[in-house]
Amino acid sequence: MKRNKVIAGNWKLHKSNTEAQQLANQIKIRSTDIKNTDIILCPPFTALTVIYDVVKDSAIGLGAQNMYWEKSGAFTGEINAEMIKSTGAGYVIIGHSERRQYFAETDETVNKKIKAALDEGLKPIVCVGESLDQRETGITAQIIETQVTGALAGLNEQQMAEIIIAYEPVWAIGTGKTASPEQAQEVHAQIRSLVNKQFGDAVSENIRIQYGGSVKAENAEILLSQPDIDGALVGGACLKAETFLPIIQAAEKL
Ligand code: 13P
Repeated sequence: MKRNKVIAGNWKLHKSNTEAQQLANQIKIRSTDIKNTDIILCPPFTALTVIYDVVKDSAIGLGAQNMYWEKSGAFTGEINAEMIKSTGAGYVIIGHSERRQYFAETDETVNKKIKAALDEGLKPIVCVGESLDQRETGITAQIIETQVTGALAGLNEQQMAEIIIAYEPVWAIGTGKTASPEQAQEVHAQIRSLVNKQFGDAVSENIRIQYGGSVKAENAEILLSQPDIDGALVGGACLKAETFLPIIQAAEKL
């Protein structure tokens, strides 16, 4: 089963609008030869419209990093799916481990956000991953199962076609420690089989599962050539065109 690779950059809390515009421009200009790999930029909310203006005439996709599930109301500081859609974005990262860790997101809130995103026609990039402590105590598979089934509860096959899953072991995020290709592949295969159990062959064969956690030019190819790794969700290395483009090129070669 050949699935197009998908490389997304999670800019996290970085880039003013001027910097964002410059970076998006560089990525656009230098990725015109990329044909088989999907590129998605996920800047802060404040830069979404600015970047949409840069990428709207290209194949580069745009995503937000979070959203709230309510449609409107007295929720100071929150952003809903419709607002994200109105910037031109087509994707939204949901349940990143930093949101789970620092902003008390749970499998239940992740599930609500996914449903609200889908209702508005946004494609969710759903993040799961175990902590170092959980890996060391040997409960990785259990944690992944809980997070995946919790996130996807109540979805149908049609909705699943819109979803990307990102496996990001928390201990590999921003630490320079990457999961070995074998460690990552093992969890990716588990995620695909969980999706298979719940939604069947067609959905599990088509769903794209990204790896995230210290992905860089040096390790991209070996990670992306694993059978169940269909892309990368990149943090630190996506903040400069020089470090992000080689990851995209590695995916394109495979
Ligand atoms: P790093 O690539 O900086 O480890 O971040 C990964 C990540 O959290 C992407 O969402």
